[in-house]
Amino acid sequence: MHGAIVSSFKRYLDTALGEDIWRHAVEDAGLKGKTYMPVSIYPDEEMEALLRAAEQASGLRRDDLLGDFGEWVIAPLMQLYKAMIPQDCDATTFLVNLQQTHERILKLKDPEAHAPGITVKRCGAGLLEIRYASTRNMGAMIPGAVKGIASWFHEEVALLASEPGQGGQSTYVFRVSSGEMTSKQAG
Ligand code: HEM
Repeated sequence: MHGAIVSSFKRYLDTALGEDIWRHAVEDAGLKGKTYMPVSIYPDEEMEALLRAAEQASGLRRDDLLGDFGEWVIAPLMQLYKAMIPQDCDATTFLVNLQQTHERILKLKDPEAHAPGITVKRCGAGLLEIRYASTRNMGAMIPGAVKGIASWFHEEVALLASEPGQGGQSTYVFRVSSGEMTSKQAG
């Protein structure tokens, strides 16, 4: 797992839940004394152990923890990779191109790296379908991350449906609309 995610997870826990949670989590995960840098790559097992330990230490369910982290992490990632991310698009275009963005960032560290298995397609006016399939079982980040992206581009998003699949796969349908349009429609 990319250090940008693991180190952000620490910052998220410190900021949102208090520094004790990370301290307990690294201890319980058997990783006491380990530090995480945004520019390194770490074994997936460490992220998984940290997630499980953070779940225990915070009392939060995995899906809630990942969803909240997904929303929190977008702004720092957008800042960190500013130079590599199209800024002059809208949330839908950004999300439809997510695969390329993930790939560009991951290949910076490792040319052999593959983007997480997330496919995003338009499925009607203002509707987006996102399918997640990864052995990392971190799909619960998606509703939060999409919310974070909508807010970055000053747009609105609503989760219309979610369906779990087998082996950690999941499918989500969102409605994305610009804030302007929503207030016009409301008026
Ligand atoms: C600011 C834009 C984004 C950046 C810079 C970014 C970057 C990253 C990086 C570096 C990883 C680690 C991958 C690895 O180590 O192989 C990752 C993982 C992940 N990202 Fe993003 N991401 C962004 C936006 C999003 C969005 C909008 C979503 C959801 C739609 C998303 C969903 C995920 C998920 C679920 C993972 C976990 C990997 C897995 O489950 O296999 N990301 N992201």
